[in-house]
Amino acid sequence: MEIRTLDPDDLDAALDVRSRSFGVLSTESATEWKAMNTRAIESERAVGAYSGVRLVAIARINDFTQWWSGRSMPMAGVAGVVVAPEHRGQGVGTALMHVVLERARVLGYPVSALYPATIPPYRAAGYELAGVEHKITIVPDAVRELARRPEVEIRRATSADTKEVLEIMNGLHERHRDSGPIMFPHDEWVDELEDEDNFSYLTDDGFLMYGWDGSGGLQVHTLVGGSEETLRAFWSIVGSGSSVAKSISAVVSPHDPIRWLLRDKGLALDAPAWWMIRLLDVQAAISGRGFPAGTSVDVPLELADPQITSSAGRFRLTVDDGVGALEPDRTTRPALQLGPNGLAALYAGTPLATLRRSGLAAGGRVGDDDALDAAFAARPFMLDYF
Ligand SMILES: CC(C)(COP(=O)(O)OP(=O)(O)OC[C@H]1O[C@@H](n2cnc3c(N)ncnc32)[C@H](O)[C@@H]1OP(=O)(O)O)[C@@H](O)C(=O)NCCC(=O)NCCS
Repeated sequence: MEIRTLDPDDLDAALDVRSRSFGVLSTESATEWKAMNTRAIESERAVGAYSGVRLVAIARINDFTQWWSGRSMPMAGVAGVVVAPEHRGQGVGTALMHVVLERARVLGYPVSALYPATIPPYRAAGYELAGVEHKITIVPDAVRELARRPEVEIRRATSADTKEVLEIMNGLHERHRDSGPIMFPHDEWVDELEDEDNFSYLTDDGFLMYGWDGSGGLQVHTLVGGSEETLRAFWSIVGSGSSVAKSISAVVSPHDPIRWLLRDKGLALDAPAWWMIRLLDVQAAISGRGFPAGTSVDVPLELADPQITSSAGRFRLTVDDGVGALEPDRTTRPALQLGPNGLAALYAGTPLATLRRSGLAAGGRVGDDDALDAAFAARPFMLDYF
């Protein structure tokens, strides 16, 4: 088995493996899929597993950025991991993920995230559950009730506004100290804003993109704003369709103001889609992440990592004035022991009490747990599926 960058001549074979795994794409979607994978091949982000000359599995690394406690860093979004049915259950997926991890690390991504269709192969590669895509469904009339004659100036957004849309979204994630949201590259936002199925609006401090969901309901893709006025204005645009829309669904932060804006019940939570993360460069991931001002940490960590040896060893974790650092530690203080899964879960704000009871953390000084919990506290979410 040889695992290497996908050969551009094998796009049809790659699409065949994908079809047997996720379903057959329409002609239009297949063309878009090939274009996306061609871009990935050109930047060494598409990997294939070959048995002789035959392509038996593929995976792609998407070039994203991700917010962690109000700071953004490059993130390798792993997707499209598929093994041909006749080669499954023989260790191909495991071997492919090892190469994907190493490739993402060499390309310079400090962290990686993915939505798992099944957890075991990814957990074995050091990924751990980190956050959710939080979907809500709201009674259309309840959304319409949110309307208030707004003083806010709203205008339609087009691809000419891409830069402004990105500035607004990034500015809000930074200001709200969000953890988890990802940003696509600029060109993919241009495509989204040009897509006639998406209806997009801008205010000075917010962005709305929504559309029909294909079964008579409205689906809010993005609705973010920096003020109550903007949020009400956007929801009122969506809610103005209540006479026709059978339902209104939205992907929002778990602490989105919508819960507190709604006058009454009428909001239901769909089953959340969990996503997982893995740290690829522990030192860059810690120094690139935000931490709450006022937290102070000085804790020795004993990190194990069977796949990425540069991430293993004894480190000193410090957090001061919102800045984190991980340096080699030469003291003999009792160290908290974490594998890649425990470290990933801690990074995503999972309390130490949960990690210890899940077998993901051991040792150290129990007195340090509170400080670590305070430093990493987060409720990670994503607004996009990939
Ligand atoms: C999921 C998939 C990529 C795994 O590849 P694979 O080559 O079959 O996996 P491996 O043989 O390396 O198995 C790795 C581990 O995952 C487990 N695993 C694999 N498929 C699984 C499944 N569907 N459900 C639960 N566990 C699974 C294996 O049991 C093994 O665990 P073990 O080492 O504890 O025994 C492959 O089965 C596939 O393409 N499935 C259909 C498409 C899909 O779901 N892709 C994932 C999208 S996120």
